[in-house]
Amino acid sequence: MAEKRALISGITGQDGSYLAEFLLAKGYEVHGLIRRSSSFNTERIDPIYQDPHDSAARLHLYYADLTDANSLSKIVRTVRPTEVYNLGAQSHVRVSFDEPVYTAEATGVGALKLLDAVHDLQQHCDHQVRYYQASSSEMYGKVAHTPQTEDTPFHPRSPYGAAKVYAHWITVNYRESYNLHASSGILFNHESPRRGETFVTRKITRAAGRIKLGLQDKLYLGNLDAKRDWGFAGDYVKMMWMMLQQDTPDDYVVATGETHEVREFCEKAFARLDLNYKDYVEIDPRYYRPAEVDLLLGDPAKAKRQLGWEPQVTFDELVNMMVDADLELARREQSLIKAGHDVCTTSGSAG
Ligand code: NAP
Ligand code: GDD
Repeated sequence: MAEKRALISGITGQDGSYLAEFLLAKGYEVHGLIRRSSSFNTERIDPIYQDPHDSAARLHLYYADLTDANSLSKIVRTVRPTEVYNLGAQSHVRVSFDEPVYTAEATGVGALKLLDAVHDLQQHCDHQVRYYQASSSEMYGKVAHTPQTEDTPFHPRSPYGAAKVYAHWITVNYRESYNLHASSGILFNHESPRRGETFVTRKITRAAGRIKLGLQDKLYLGNLDAKRDWGFAGDYVKMMWMMLQQDTPDDYVVATGETHEVREFCEKAFARLDLNYKDYVEIDPRYYRPAEVDLLLGDPAKAKRQLGWEPQVTFDELVNMMVDADLELARREQSLIKAGHDVCTTSGSAG
């Protein structure tokens, strides 16, 4: 068996796909949990699964769900991973107000179920495992101080944030109770061309590309005043791995140290295509949240000092990267339409 064997929950998501690529490139055997779905949900990892080179042979997928403890413990016992990355979650903040119980079960208690499976393997089979928990800046919610550090108290403002606080503290508890090598990355918002289309950045860049080509007229958004510390997902998955290479487990803020308004993201994204966002963006109050997180700004000093981690992609580079990719996607969409194919439109009601 390979010495470096990672198990990733949430491998079909934005971060899971970048992390899988990163670990395969480092020679890991990568095992991922996927969910049965009535439509395709492996689009982000299909390129590596179908890669004709040897990395595809080192990628293994299993059906499981974070709400199903049996499925998790069976896979953990079978795979005997050396590293476990818990990235799976109902990760949409707005949706968590509509599905608070499911969010608590998948995003919160799901972490406990996976930790417990890891703890069992370690205890009964004398097999050492390192565990990563995908914690979130959403835990800071109504922020106690700015910038937010590892010492800033949590005050979640959504069922998702509350579930992440539970997952975070149960991870700390397993570290302290059972000497488990368990670390949490408190990651601030991170984006990419693979970002889900109902998160605000991708919703904006997807619409900008379509509007530029005449495939869409307007973009409906909620609160443009919110401020976020946005980085590039590819930079952030590296930090997940770096945390697990430390002798001592710990928790780290992962952020850029810059914050920008949603409005500014719109302005830059449309300007990249020589458009003025004010001509296209309209406010739809249905996208407001029952409670909002107004400002997030992280201080990544500990990650820099202890692990030497630095984000590589700037805010402007991130916006341009996403707009360029979505303009290309819109061009492909346009070709399909011209050829008479049906094309799914974006921005479902949840976004
Ligand atoms: P994402 O794109 O929404 O991916 C979430 C993943 O979790 C998907 O693979 C999804 O599977 C899976 N999943 C959802 N419910 C599940 C369940 N019940 N059982 C098993 N798997 C389930 O999220 P992301 O942006 O990659 O984020 C990765 C993790 O980091 C999440 O835990 C998120 O909450 C956290 N986080 C993200 C950010 C950010 O800005 N991106 C910041 C801080 C923390 P399907 O593909 O089948 O839906
Ligand atoms: N999604 C969305 N759609 N957000 C909008 C819209 C819209 O139409 N209009 C304005 N916003 C505002 C939201 O109200 C929020 O203040 C901000 O844009 C960012 O929203 P999202 O992109 O949905 O991200 P998020 O900050 O709520 O949550 C993301 O980041 C967290 C880390 O802080 C998710 O990735 C979470 O999983 C992650 O933990």
